[in-house]
Amino acid sequence: MQKVAVITGASSGIGSALCERLLQEDASLHVCLACRNMDKAKATRDRLLSCFPHADISMVKVDVGNLASVLHAATEIKKRFCRLDYLFLNAGIMVNPRISISAFARGLFSRRAVRMLTTAEGLMTQEDRVTSDGLQEVFETNFFGHFVLIRQLEPLLCCLEKPSQLIWTSSVNAHRSNFSLDDYQHSQGREAYSSSKYATDLASMALNNRFNKQGLYSSVVCPGIVMTNMTFEILSPLLWKLLMPIMWLVRLFTRTYTLTPYNGAEAQIWLFKQKPELLDPLVKYHSCTTFFGKNYVETRKMDISEDLAEKFYMKLLELEKQMLEKQTIHDSIENTA
Ligand SMILES: NC(=O)c1ccc[n+]([C@@H]2O[C@H](COP(=O)([O-])OP(=O)(O)OC[C@H]3O[C@@H](n4cnc5c(N)ncnc54)[C@H](OP(=O)(O)O)[C@@H]3O)[C@@H](O)[C@H]2O)c1
Repeated sequence: MQKVAVITGASSGIGSALCERLLQEDASLHVCLACRNMDKAKATRDRLLSCFPHADISMVKVDVGNLASVLHAATEIKKRFCRLDYLFLNAGIMVNPRISISAFARGLFSRRAVRMLTTAEGLMTQEDRVTSDGLQEVFETNFFGHFVLIRQLEPLLCCLEKPSQLIWTSSVNAHRSNFSLDDYQHSQGREAYSSSKYATDLASMALNNRFNKQGLYSSVVCPGIVMTNMTFEILSPLLWKLLMPIMWLVRLFTRTYTLTPYNGAEAQIWLFKQKPELLDPLVKYHSCTTFFGKNYVETRKMDISEDLAEKFYMKLLELEKQMLEKQTIHDSIENTA
């Protein structure tokens, strides 16, 4: 039976490179591009078809920062497929990210220089907004929209005879210190991105606890530092180009400067080829690139605890219930109007 992979955020950057690499690995795979912008999705599909003319590629519209869109996409996916082998939860945003020049200068001459350069910890300022659903945008887009999608697609993902894989694009920037159970949407803090990525790490652990027995396995990856639309919002492409020789040199000290979307997708591709039952749910899979450009995957233990993951999961179920009830009321008002 033909395998099916759904990829959110497939319209650019790492998601788009991932689709290409998936087809290189398995030309018979059905690749479903789950994107919010259908023009961009079509452009990605056409580009993929120009390299793989016989590839089986479909598209589904989904804005993971909008609950109604997520529910609609889930219904559509359930109509089209009877099972999913891979769900790549890759779409993500940072709102108005900026490098703090003063923090950079201070950090560069301190003992935490390498940590700052490899994790961007303390280096960036960002903003956040509230979506039409009333949730923090970074939380809903990077995490909660995906969580609801998984829950809606459970019937297609849970099959004892054949395991399915959830593969989240997390980050090395997912820090426990930026996450709080009391403010898991991070409405009060200034590290919404880090908090949302820590949320994915926690949820992945809780999902494994719940669903492994039903044949569903979850893993998290970090693509490294990659030049994509997201990084081009931090600095202009020209500035990144000028910094490129320095970033190549930094590869002597850290392998996480993967730089290209192709390299950044290494960990996702590695996971695609593994037996999920044999994976360690407590590690994050990092895409790495050596100074000479060789790609490989490094595993690093995540700073997560089962207790926190379970408490967070219970809060998520509560939020999901509230949001679905709100959506049902909204739909019935729309239908009677
Ligand atoms: N680049 C890095 O250095 C880096 C490092 C660590 C982790 N990551 C993670 O890697 C993932 C991919 O990012 P990228 O670097 O490839 O950046 P990117 O080129 O900006 O890609 C982000 C993708 O997410 C999609 N997206 C954003 N908001 C969405 C929404 N509300 N609904 C549906 N799709 C949405 C974008 O769609 P549009 O094309 O319509 O905008 C785009 O396809 C993200 O989760 C990011 O956090 C990136």
